[in-house]
Amino acid sequence: PQKSLTAADIRGRKGQTPLVCLTAYTTPVARLADAECDVLLVGDSVGMVLHGLPSTLPVTLDMMILHGQAVVRGAERSLVVIDMPFGSYEEGPDQAFRNAARLMAETGAGAVKLEGGRHMADTIAFLVARGIPVMAHIGLTPQAVNAIGGYRVQGRGADAERILADARAVADAGAFSVVLEKVPARLADDITADLAIPTIGIGASPGCDGQILVIDDMLGLFDAFKPKFVKRYADLATDAAQAIRAYAGDVRDRSFPAPEHVFTDEGGQS
Ligand code: KIV
Ligand code: NA
Repeated sequence: PQKSLTAADIRGRKGQTPLVCLTAYTTPVARLADAECDVLLVGDSVGMVLHGLPSTLPVTLDMMILHGQAVVRGAERSLVVIDMPFGSYEEGPDQAFRNAARLMAETGAGAVKLEGGRHMADTIAFLVARGIPVMAHIGLTPQAVNAIGGYRVQGRGADAERILADARAVADAGAFSVVLEKVPARLADDITADLAIPTIGIGASPGCDGQILVIDDMLGLFDAFKPKFVKRYADLATDAAQAIRAYAGDVRDRSFPAPEHVFTDEGGQS
């Protein structure tokens, strides 16, 4: 069996061919994505995408552990990264280490991700020094939606300096890569040129060292809303609705089950 990629491998891909990253929350989807991906992120987006929550804030460590275990079972090649959920790391380095260690030990994932720039630098350095690779996440940080007042573009105009300072801080703290979410393309390119670690864009720029999307968004499976930065590569929600409608019709007119789906007195299990 192939050895899976490590955080150090991902770090070493700076300036090389773009890193292919997707979220995954379950074993079967992880198996599908693993063949093409470098990173599978068990995002806290799982709360909105699979659990119907109104934001990522109610997502718990237990939810991340359960979905993390499922994804690790389905991943052979990709690095599995697990999001630290809201409230599990912001108190300080000790709390962050305790919970990151649980995520790593109980799932077998290769790294964690947490949101925040300069104010998280000490925590990132603390985790990295103790054996936990950290992917940073700056720009739009959805766990801060209540403080920001919405999911708007970050770093426009003079605000670019703030995001660049965050990028430098997380890189200096030892993060092995950084997600840039919903920032102007020009700023994403400047940060990518400035940092020695890979930038992974979502609503950022094709010039980033990699790209990530929420898999249910790009498959057209989650269709409650579609951010501008999402490209739909399939329309699985429509396909699923059609399949369910066809099944319902077959049940109502008794064309399902057909003879090949039912059992006779003879023939054992077949
Ligand atoms: O939770 C998530 O899915 C994420 C990515 C979109 C970066 O944080
Ligand atoms: Na997230």
